Amino acid sequence: MVAFHRSSRARSVVPALASLGLVLGLRHWSGPAYAVKGTWEGAPATLKDGEFEAVLKGLEPSVSLPPITFKREGLSLSVENGHLNADYSTKFGAAHAFQLNVNDEHDWRAGLSTADASLRVRGHGPSLDNLFWEASQSGRADEVGDVQLDFNSDKEYNLTVTQDMLGELLGAKFGAKVRSTNAGVTGRLEARRQLPGHAALSYSVENPVGVYDVASSAHVGELTVPVLGGQAGLKLVHENSADSYQGSYSRKIQGGQAHVKASYKGDALGYNVSFGRSLEDLLSVDAGVHVGADEDGVYGQLTARRHLGEGVDAEYEAKARAHLGGEAGKPELAHALKLSNKLGYAQLLHGSDASPRLRVGYEFNA
Ligand SMILES: *[C@@H]1O[C@H](CO)[C@@H](O)[C@H](O)[C@H]1NC(C)=O
Ligand SMILES: *[C@@H]1O[C@H](CO)[C@@H](O)[C@H](O)[C@H]1NC(C)=O
Repeated sequence: MVAFHRSSRARSVVPALASLGLVLGLRHWSGPAYAVKGTWEGAPATLKDGEFEAVLKGLEPSVSLPPITFKREGLSLSVENGHLNADYSTKFGAAHAFQLNVNDEHDWRAGLSTADASLRVRGHGPSLDNLFWEASQSGRADEVGDVQLDFNSDKEYNLTVTQDMLGELLGAKFGAKVRSTNAGVTGRLEARRQLPGHAALSYSVENPVGVYDVASSAHVGELTVPVLGGQAGLKLVHENSADSYQGSYSRKIQGGQAHVKASYKGDALGYNVSFGRSLEDLLSVDAGVHVGADEDGVYGQLTARRHLGEGVDAEYEAKARAHLGGEAGKPELAHALKLSNKLGYAQLLHGSDASPRLRVGYEFNA
């Protein structure tokens, strides 16, 4: 965070802007009220040993000052993190807008925009030495497609031409995007085709900026097919002279969702099989379970949430992961129980690699 800058200039800007606000009769202000909060975290034994000092120290309220904004007819004054900002914006004509922002450290930004062009300038103080500007212009040219040009005061530019519908050939739709920049040109050609039975096939080829041989381009082919009430997918990627493959299948089963994924990249085979299900219909609490296996081992997660009455809610979460194969060690286990109401909460956390921790806290808006 930037420290509050107390130069004489800053001090003179603040009352000037404030009196401007008074002259304009700014009355509307928004923003949340003061947020008051405190937390303490430690081993539960601390409470037994009578070390209340640390606990009370942690629970001392910390008050965060709210951001305040005054707005009227395009002018807005706001204080955020101890800094004053003034914004002015106005619309003229049908689609023209002008915006100016100044803060108490003399940083300023101005912008002019229309429906298809914009110019943004930023600087510091009255000097024009560190001026930075960026402009953009967009439009549509018949036969060519959507054209967008971005350029800035560092002489960097991007000219992007996008044509989603280049044409149709043998039932496949073709689209293309070409970007020209200081370092060269990059292009992407994509073909999409619907197949019988709601299956879809897509293929794209894209060259890295400024590299024009086909062998260095990235090729991605993807096929999705509805199978047995689920969705099967196959993806082939050729990038940086290496091939990778990924197959997946996902479907609803036994009131939950099952996912199967297998991939092959370099010489490594990867997989991830999982099943997630809400338990609401079995237990009368809002609970869910997720279990699975991947190349690292097996994992599982259980969550449950319940309203205990009198405005108190309870939340429980347990997570486990066991590594299999070479570096099989002890399984990692972690669980947490949280009780909360409108004013505060108490949470007990316990994991297999750490001693139990108790966390208490409160938070409210004054
Ligand atoms: C051009 O596009 C690249 C990639 O999207 C982006 O990182 C860069 O900032 C753009 N340059 C300009 C001048 O807009
Ligand atoms: C497998 O899926 C689970 C849950 O979706 C995720 O947490 C885990 O990181 C995945 N494993 C790999 C190796 O990507």
